[in-house]
Amino acid sequence: MGAFTLLLLAAASVTQAHFGIDYPAMRANTLGSSRNSSYSQWLQPCAGVPGNLTDRPITPWPLEGGSLKLELHHKWTYIFINLGLGPDVGNFNYTLTNPFWNSTGNGTLCVPKLALPADLPIMDGSQASLQVVTVGDSGNALYNCADIVFSVNATALEGDACTNSTGMTLAPVVNMADAPADEPANNTNGTDTPNTGAGAVNGVNTMGLSSMMALAMTFALGMSL
Ligand SMILES: *[C@@H]1O[C@H](CO)[C@@H](O)[C@H](O)[C@H]1NC(C)=O
Ligand SMILES: *[C@@H]1O[C@H](CO)[C@@H](O)[C@H](O)[C@H]1NC(C)=O
Ligand SMILES: *[C@@H]1O[C@H](CO)[C@@H](O)[C@H](O)[C@H]1NC(C)=O
Ligand SMILES: *[C@@H]1O[C@H](CO)[C@@H](O)[C@H](O)[C@H]1NC(C)=O
Ligand SMILES: *[C@@H]1O[C@H](CO)[C@@H](O)[C@H](O)[C@H]1NC(C)=O
Ligand SMILES: *[C@@H]1O[C@H](CO)[C@@H](O)[C@H](O)[C@H]1NC(C)=O
Ligand SMILES: *[C@@H]1O[C@H](CO)[C@@H](O)[C@H](O)[C@H]1NC(C)=O
Ligand SMILES: *[C@@H]1O[C@H](CO)[C@@H](O)[C@H](O)[C@H]1NC(C)=O
Ligand SMILES: *[C@@H]1O[C@H](CO)[C@@H](O)[C@H](O)[C@H]1NC(C)=O
Repeated sequence: MGAFTLLLLAAASVTQAHFGIDYPAMRANTLGSSRNSSYSQWLQPCAGVPGNLTDRPITPWPLEGGSLKLELHHKWTYIFINLGLGPDVGNFNYTLTNPFWNSTGNGTLCVPKLALPADLPIMDGSQASLQVVTVGDSGNALYNCADIVFSVNATALEGDACTNSTGMTLAPVVNMADAPADEPANNTNGTDTPNTGAGAVNGVNTMGLSSMMALAMTFALGMSL
């Protein structure tokens, strides 16, 4: 009885530390104790689930980008979404999250429409796979993949099919390397700051970053999502 409870608790905590892709359907169950024991979300690129698995679900997805619905179990997590082309993807070389996201809240996160790169060489019937990578503050990454086929008849999820749990948020993470190029890169001497006045360097940096952040937000929320 005690041991069984412990086992249940262990299984629950393992499940909680991982994430699921609700839509498009995950290539295989990689969560919890009912998964194939050779699958582990710690393994890249796709949790150890082979890309040529015979009975994997392949979800029709719009050519202009479709929905993504995740089950997240952490207070917050960084999210990277990549795409690879072909029926058995070995190379997820298109990123759909530039900058990557910081998602806060546990539960369901549904993005109605993921934007695709403009030059993506796809047509009706092109097969592809999505790779979702979540990274916590320790830097450890979890992986899951979902297989899609681009279809002119596919539509994005709408209404009740795509809702967020209460409190889910998403913010693109803009890193320092993306700050405006005209910032003085060597201007690190606090005492030796030219012309802009005391504190101005920090001010400029902050303004640069926050306007980049605002731009990125506008881009991601207004155009991409
Ligand atoms: C578990 O996964 C491996 C690798 O895909 C596969 O060879 C094996 O048949 C699977 N086992 C079951 C029970 O599905
Ligand atoms: C899937 O790919 C693996 C590794 O490339 C290969 O060993 C295996 O035979 C393939 N299975 C099928 C069903 O094609
Ligand atoms: C991505 O990889 C595929 C297959 O390996 C290749 O055909 C394609 O040109 C690559 N695209 C980019 C942008 O690197
Ligand atoms: C991501 O969100 C968490 C929780 O809101 C926060 O603690 C963390 O600093 C954020 N990371 C970045 C890079 O903004
Ligand atoms: C989210 O986390 C809270 C606090 O840990 C928990 O009570 C709640 O059940 C979780 N919700 C979901 C959907 O996982
Ligand atoms: C899309 O839908 C139309 C009308 O139902 C059908 O004729 C066509 O075959 C479908 N195309 C694909 C690729 O499924
Ligand atoms: C869910 O939340 C994210 C982040 O706030 C947002 O981008 C997305 O549009 C929301 N989904 C729905 C269906 O409102
Ligand atoms: C920064 O310092 C390095 C080494 O002193 C120098 O080579 C580089 O040109 C400087 N960059 C700028 C933007 O001043
Ligand atoms: C930074 O301070 C050092 C020592 O005071 C000085 O030699 C150096 O030129 C300063 N660098 C810049 C970029 O102002």
